[in-house]
Amino acid sequence: MNDPVYNFGAGPSMLPTEVMQQVQRDFLNFNNMGVSVIEISHRSKEFEAVLARCDELVREVGNIPANYQLLYTHGGAQMQFAGVPLNLLARKPAHKAVYCETGHFSRLANVEAQRYGNIVIAASGRDSSYDRIPAFTRRMVDDDASYAFITSNNTIYGTQYPSWPDMEDMPLVIDATSDIFSRPVDFSKTGVVFAGLQKNLGPAGTALVIVREDLIGHAMERTPSLLDWAVYAKNHSLANTNSTFNIYVMSLVMQWLKDQGGPAAMAQRNEEKAQALYKVLDGSDFYRGTAQPAYRSRMNVTWVLPSEELTALFLKEALANGLYALKGHKVVGGIRASIYNPVPLAGCRKLAEFMREFERTRG
Ligand SMILES: Cc1ncc(COP(=O)(O)O)c(C=O)c1O
Repeated sequence: MNDPVYNFGAGPSMLPTEVMQQVQRDFLNFNNMGVSVIEISHRSKEFEAVLARCDELVREVGNIPANYQLLYTHGGAQMQFAGVPLNLLARKPAHKAVYCETGHFSRLANVEAQRYGNIVIAASGRDSSYDRIPAFTRRMVDDDASYAFITSNNTIYGTQYPSWPDMEDMPLVIDATSDIFSRPVDFSKTGVVFAGLQKNLGPAGTALVIVREDLIGHAMERTPSLLDWAVYAKNHSLANTNSTFNIYVMSLVMQWLKDQGGPAAMAQRNEEKAQALYKVLDGSDFYRGTAQPAYRSRMNVTWVLPSEELTALFLKEALANGLYALKGHKVVGGIRASIYNPVPLAGCRKLAEFMREFERTRG
């Protein structure tokens, strides 16, 4: 076997090898049925068992309270940028929501929401190129708002809320696409948490929506049925043909996560992985980390080199060394190492070693 290739892609991103091996087996012959997992009906008892198991694992691993529903929705995370306002704004007459803008995706979220109501941006990191998370507290959210919105981890800018803000009585909605189940969190303090699967949970195109029951059933009249959380809740996410493959892979990822020790074990490992890289940045005049240290992400580590030429060379040599998909997002450039739950510590150590060597020879 050749040396392993470590995948630092931002999403779709690395899945655990054990999961992919299981997928490979089930692809040809699921449950000894002689048919593929992608060939069985979403209404078959076998798929219903997959869905039920996925729910059970999410509840157990995520410690999700009983008064929250789990929905598997179409269109990835960004579909919920519309789904959230369509389902929640009409809860109160002002049709108002308050957003904290901490990067590219939280901006897309509030721009989309503006199509449906009165959206206030109470805090923004835009003036400092989103290198930090601005303060966002309950006092900054008007009482007539239907919800407050944050993006817990900013995939492109490499920043993360050290902890989720306490919004007390105001439903807190969180786009946790790039850090769900990467550390222990208290879901009972949230109204809605949603995440596209393609980083910590599985394949792209589906989102997990964890929603407090009392927030279901307030959708605006014009909400398309397949964006209405009540329709998903009533039909156990099977109002139409859902992405059976995505949910199936997610159930395997959740089992893997449980076997690894869940979010608490992940948090420890993710800290070690991230620190292996931040240590190189902190000890270098050659590389410059782009996030303020207090808000550094444990999922996406971002930095720049002194020139475009050196950046291109770094990427080329990294790839030749089995370090794949390190290019920063096109809106910011530079380098980004995405180190979601499945990325092993060995990959981060190898990247850290490569960075030191590159600095020694090219710096
Ligand atoms: C925080 C965050 N939200 C939303 C998205 C978009 O997700 P999707 O492509 O599933 O719509 C991404 C990245 O892909 C993201 O990092």
